[in-house]
Amino acid sequence: MSGPSKAIIHPLADIRGSITVPGDKSISQRLAMLCGIAEGTSTVQGYLQSEDCLATLNAMVALGAKAEFDRDVLTICGTGGVIKSPADPLDLGNSGTGIRLLTGLLAGFPVEATLTGDTYLRRRPMERVCRPLVEMGARVDCLGANDCPPIRVRGGELNAITYTLPVASAQVKSCVMLAALHAEGTTTVIEPSETRDPTERLFQALGVPVRVDGLRIEMDGFGPAGPRFAAREWTVPGDFSSAACWIVAAAARPGAELSLPKVGLNPRRTALLRVLERMGAQIELEVQPGPGEPIGTLHIQGTRLTGTSVDESEIANLIDELPLLAAAGALADGLTEIRNAAELRVKESDRIASTVKNLAAVGVQVEELPDGMLVTGPARLAAKGPIDSFGDHRIAMMMSILALSAEGPLEVHDIACVDTSYPAFWTHLQQLGAEVLR
Ligand code: S3P
Repeated sequence: MSGPSKAIIHPLADIRGSITVPGDKSISQRLAMLCGIAEGTSTVQGYLQSEDCLATLNAMVALGAKAEFDRDVLTICGTGGVIKSPADPLDLGNSGTGIRLLTGLLAGFPVEATLTGDTYLRRRPMERVCRPLVEMGARVDCLGANDCPPIRVRGGELNAITYTLPVASAQVKSCVMLAALHAEGTTTVIEPSETRDPTERLFQALGVPVRVDGLRIEMDGFGPAGPRFAAREWTVPGDFSSAACWIVAAAARPGAELSLPKVGLNPRRTALLRVLERMGAQIELEVQPGPGEPIGTLHIQGTRLTGTSVDESEIANLIDELPLLAAAGALADGLTEIRNAAELRVKESDRIASTVKNLAAVGVQVEELPDGMLVTGPARLAAKGPIDSFGDHRIAMMMSILALSAEGPLEVHDIACVDTSYPAFWTHLQQLGAEVLR
């Protein structure tokens, strides 16, 4: 991660205008992998040019794909189903999605590869992906302490399995599905609760036989020869998790008026909208008809929010938005309760600890729970600093959004991490009229 190390964000009197958020991170990374093994040249309009997505793309290039950007359009020439063992370890930077999904993809190829990442990624648990892959017959080892990266994969000759996910994780589900492309027979993944589904949708678009029945996903593999994906044109919708910054900023500010065009509105990504609506938020959706992921414009009118409880069934579909929801809770009247979210402890940082620590530092009444937090608002946000992002992009952005409602400027440190998912964040903050010094 590079770039400036701190930002001073001034409060903003009014929130108005329109922001076009960049492409979806989860979809961009999956497209790098799927176009990377396709036959011929694919184009991807709106591929997210953030560090996580570029690290995944670079890994595919190290495996034999060719990639080139022309402004907003990425051209990828795929390997046609053949992959060479990379000479050097593949560096997925900060990206959990990159390392976990690519481990699954490589498990089906007769290659040997080592996958690693930055200091934050090298602290994250990988046993959750190694276990099902080993059950499928791959040789996958975590070389770091406590089942952390680097991961060494020696792939090929996989069996189909039925796997019940011990945790609700789209990354683990997708890892198994990518490996299952090379298995003989039907692989079944059973989720404890619905998680995001870009892998299922992209597989269906590519003609992979995938059947989804509630929490059960079944797919037929192509055997050791693997799939023959034809190159094609793709368009990536705007990232809902990036849009969530502005949704919360505007929804919790009486008098605000904001539009967000071309946002991906897959219902498995938008649980935040349902929770905010329960808090009293006024959000209108203008969904564009068309094939593929639902896309649309969000119109937000700010108002005073009231606290709420997040239901267990909502957690997986707003997992990346929970720090922002805690910020909304700090601005709302009464108690906002987040439980059943222990997975937050193994994200880019321990997001329960980092959110609680930072909210408390600016004067929010907040209590840490083993699996979540209790936030009582409305807070008078003291302009204190410095605030630490803990190297976590979602925490850096959440505190910067909260700064817009503080009593004075807020200094957020260790902000280079924002470039992993949303490099245009600071420009968009300034576009809203916020004074940002970096
Ligand atoms: C992602 C799934 C989620 C999410 C992550 C991206 C994906 O992780 O937190 O930012 O692209 O599949 P888990 O599935 O591990 O919860």
